Amino acid sequence: MKELEIKQLGELPFGVTEALNQLRINLGFCGGGIKIVMMTSSVPNEGKSFLTLHLWKMMAEVGVKTLLIDCDFRNSEMRRKYGIHSTSGQKLIGGAHYLAGQASLEEVIYKTNVPNGYMIPVASTIANPTILLESDNFSRMVEECAGQFSYILLDTPPLGRVADALTIARHCHGSVLVVRSGSTPRKLVENSAQLLRRTESPLLGVVLNRADVGSRSNAYYHRYYGSSDYGYGYGHSHNKPTTNGGK
Ligand SMILES: Nc1ncnc2c1ncn2[C@@H]1O[C@H](COP(=O)(O)OP(=O)(O)OP(=O)(O)O)[C@@H](O)[C@H]1O
Ligand SMILES: [Mg+2]
Repeated sequence: MKELEIKQLGELPFGVTEALNQLRINLGFCGGGIKIVMMTSSVPNEGKSFLTLHLWKMMAEVGVKTLLIDCDFRNSEMRRKYGIHSTSGQKLIGGAHYLAGQASLEEVIYKTNVPNGYMIPVASTIANPTILLESDNFSRMVEECAGQFSYILLDTPPLGRVADALTIARHCHGSVLVVRSGSTPRKLVENSAQLLRRTESPLLGVVLNRADVGSRSNAYYHRYYGSSDYGYGYGHSHNKPTTNGGK
């Protein structure tokens, strides 16, 4: 199996690690049957990729053989942001190569420098992945990976722009909606939650990312999201995070 090195993973502040750990544990409480989970959000820049990557790393570090599939085919920044490169120096091939029938599944699954952490990267972005996402190859890829890995996390584009995430949701056991604290309008979050609820895969919960713990804006989010029927919410910032609920 080919290998990827992720150079810029860095150490997270204690509070962030603690919140991510809580998220990992709560996902475990969703039940043993939930092992293919999609991370999405309403708009760009809410922290989907950041959370997916760090949650993936954390799961792998506790010994769960975890696969991250980067499904943001249009706009993935993972490689650049986290310094991901092939250790052999060979050209990277990614999920789209498999979906387009240009590579086998074995060729696009990489071992990484995170023990137990595997990845199907986006090698280069493509303008219109709809046909690939709707193809039988996509469901085959997810199904076959489910047989090989204990947990699969999928990073996706935001819901507000394109239908990609909803197409991907059809193949997942559940989704997690990331909300950037103090930034994403409540109405948009409600629309996203509604869109996700209409898919076959349940909305497992909402992550409140980048919350300024203790601030007035955070109090606002607690009021509107914390007591709602969303699964759970997390304050997630460089300050001490908050965890509200677990309903
Ligand atoms: N909790 C956090 N603490 C610190 N930085 C964060 C946190 N969440 C996200 N970021 C940073 O915010 C920026 C946007 O995050 P990210 O790229 O994960 O968003 P995204 O939702 O995946 O965006 P896109 O929709 O464009 O793919 C990145 O630079 C990321 O490192
Ligand atoms: Mg992203």
